[in-house]
Amino acid sequence: MTKNYVWSLFTRLFHILLVLSVAAAFLLAEFENLLTLHVAVGYTIGLLFVYRIMWGFMDVRYSKFKDFNFNLLDLKEYMLNIFANKKEYVGHNPASSWAIVAMIILGLGSVFTGVVVYGTQEGMGILSFLNFSVFKKMDLFKDIHELFTNAFMAVIFVHISGVLLDRVLHKSKAVESMIHGYKDSEAQSLKLTLLQKIFGFLWISSSLFLFIYLLSNPSNMLVADANIAVDYKKEHPQFYNECKSCHTLYPPYLLPKQSWAKMMDNLENHFGDDASLDEQDRLSIRDYLLKNSAESSTKESAFMILKSIKAEDTIAITKTPYWEKRHETIDKTIFASKKVAAKSNCKACHNNIEQGLLNDKDIKIPELSKG
Ligand code: HEC
Ligand code: HEC
Repeated sequence: MTKNYVWSLFTRLFHILLVLSVAAAFLLAEFENLLTLHVAVGYTIGLLFVYRIMWGFMDVRYSKFKDFNFNLLDLKEYMLNIFANKKEYVGHNPASSWAIVAMIILGLGSVFTGVVVYGTQEGMGILSFLNFSVFKKMDLFKDIHELFTNAFMAVIFVHISGVLLDRVLHKSKAVESMIHGYKDSEAQSLKLTLLQKIFGFLWISSSLFLFIYLLSNPSNMLVADANIAVDYKKEHPQFYNECKSCHTLYPPYLLPKQSWAKMMDNLENHFGDDASLDEQDRLSIRDYLLKNSAESSTKESAFMILKSIKAEDTIAITKTPYWEKRHETIDKTIFASKKVAAKSNCKACHNNIEQGLLNDKDIKIPELSKG
């Protein structure tokens, strides 16, 4: 048998970039403050797939969809004979043909639903306007996104298992072929036209470019932040002056009406301090807080705090179940450190909370060593 060239350089680069970026997106999903990176990787996966679809309609031997084997009888035979001696496929075997289509659909579905979540929940990206209209569905969209990503990972798992099984049982060289591009067979070698080479170059280079561009241009529309900073000093000077003097200026959307009313009606006994004000200021601040409470906000934190509070009438943000849950993994010593000092000192970790912003990407825990 002779060696034949079956996977072009571009197909192989695409494959390795996809492996790296899907692994990265999966791991990054665990870290709130790395959300921008997760999103940039996500968009890159999307672009890689869009090019892959176009590549599938170009006349590239073994990579074009026409060369895929979608015959269900062949798939059945392939699956049944997986442990037996089976014939060698030059391009994609029936199982990998289906797996690739499933991966393209689920991968693009994951990217699209991710952009929807980014818009509804964070008020960011190209669909940020969704935050104002359908924010109440943010949980649902997140579930759908997870459904797509989990299904995507499941197909990847099956695909990798299949490749490994093939290797163990049949000493298949599929993995090597995805690296150097060659397979042992009598079939015809692949040859790219100039146009295909240019397309392939664009495929890889523009995907890499997109990734770098998204990270270096935070204001571009794909990752832009639609959350507007609030100048509380201008909007309500008394609130700004009085409520910032002892601690972080808490944005009004972090508590529901009921809690603000209860707090503002008992300022003499405010967490052990006397925070009382003259009646005119008190009423004016009370009114402002109630008008801008969690009920009137589309922010993720407002929505989640409101949902978690239920009937309780807590007046401490740090006592709400949502707050507790989101901060439970943070080491106690961090809250006790000099730089933070108290849970209620939000601005130590959320540096623009006093402008009403609580974005995941802006979360920074101060380093203890320097504290
Ligand atoms: C005299 C100082 C003082 C002033 C003025 C003051 N507070 Fe406080 N506030 C405190 C203290 C002390 C705590 C408890 C902080 C802690 O638990 O670490 C607190 C806690 C809070 C909390 C709960 C924070 C948490 O732990 O979740 C909220 C909300 C709050 N204050 C709102 C306000 C508002 C609104 C105003 C303006 C009307 C205000 N505070 C003015 C001293 C003050
Ligand atoms: C010691 C640092 C620290 C302090 C102090 C702190 N946070 Fe956080 N906060 C974090 C970290 C880290 C996360 C992300 C946790 C995760 O990955 O889920 C977070 C997450 C959150 C979230 C969820 C993010 C979102 O988009 O909804 C909210 C809301 C929040 N914090 C509000 C507050 C408020 C309000 C205070 C003050 C009462 C506060 N935090 C004090 C570190 C801190």
